[in-house]
Amino acid sequence: MENLTQPRHAPQGRRKSSAVYRRRRLAIILIAVGVVIVLVGGGAVAWTAFTSGGTVNAVPTPTPKRTPTRTPTPTPTPTPTFNKSANSIDDPMSIWVVVNKLRPLNPQNFVPSDLVDANVPAVFTSTLREPTARAVEAMFAAYTTETGDAMRIQSAFRSYETQIEVYANNNQDDTQSARPGFSEHQTGLTLDISPASGECALDECFAQTAPGQWLAANAWKYGFMLRYPNGLSNIEGYAFEPWHYRFVGIELATELHNTGIQTLEEFFGLPPAPDYQ
Ligand code: DAL
Ligand code: ZN
Repeated sequence: MENLTQPRHAPQGRRKSSAVYRRRRLAIILIAVGVVIVLVGGGAVAWTAFTSGGTVNAVPTPTPKRTPTRTPTPTPTPTPTFNKSANSIDDPMSIWVVVNKLRPLNPQNFVPSDLVDANVPAVFTSTLREPTARAVEAMFAAYTTETGDAMRIQSAFRSYETQIEVYANNNQDDTQSARPGFSEHQTGLTLDISPASGECALDECFAQTAPGQWLAANAWKYGFMLRYPNGLSNIEGYAFEPWHYRFVGIELATELHNTGIQTLEEFFGLPPAPDYQ
């Protein structure tokens, strides 16, 4: 009897097993190729990271941005027509007179010829030279109109004799008080200002008060300058006095404001006067 099972099955089983082998070989080859690709690809990435000094996940170095060019701050230009010789800086009756530790009043007991009392509140007197008095009245009125607040004169004209007392009362401190014959107060062009309340009178904290800040921004419009600004004692000779205003007239005050020049010594090209000779 013909055994149909074996012959029929045997070739089928061989065909089947060889197909399985082929598939397995193919699978092994594919896996091997995959492994090679993974290894080669990973190695390439790792090599790139290694040679670029970073990690695999390294963030690309940003391209440096260009520093934006700074817009230059406009420098105020002096008025070309400003005549620095229009008034004397030596004559004690000139509104441009420069008085400092190297430039005493001449004569030393000088008294201005046009003293008047300004019509504004004052602790002691409101005596000033006539143009100074009118300018102070206008300035104090403007401050009150603009803010509803008020200022007062703490100290105005001081004679040579009065300055002897003031200098003694300040313990002859040359950084705070002028020696007799060397004070701007003797010109009648200078005054010390305080709030009507007296807060911070003759104190550095005056600079932070409402009148102190208003004066720093607006006094030039009325012909005044802050004569002893902060940090310039090596030029004008005194510690910061935010209350001490000097009348120089609207023309010069405006020029100083526009040019940003803070001292009369610098404006007129005079030697610095930190000390007496
Ligand atoms: N306090 C100022 C410098 C004066 O005595 O004139
Ligand atoms: Zn003063």
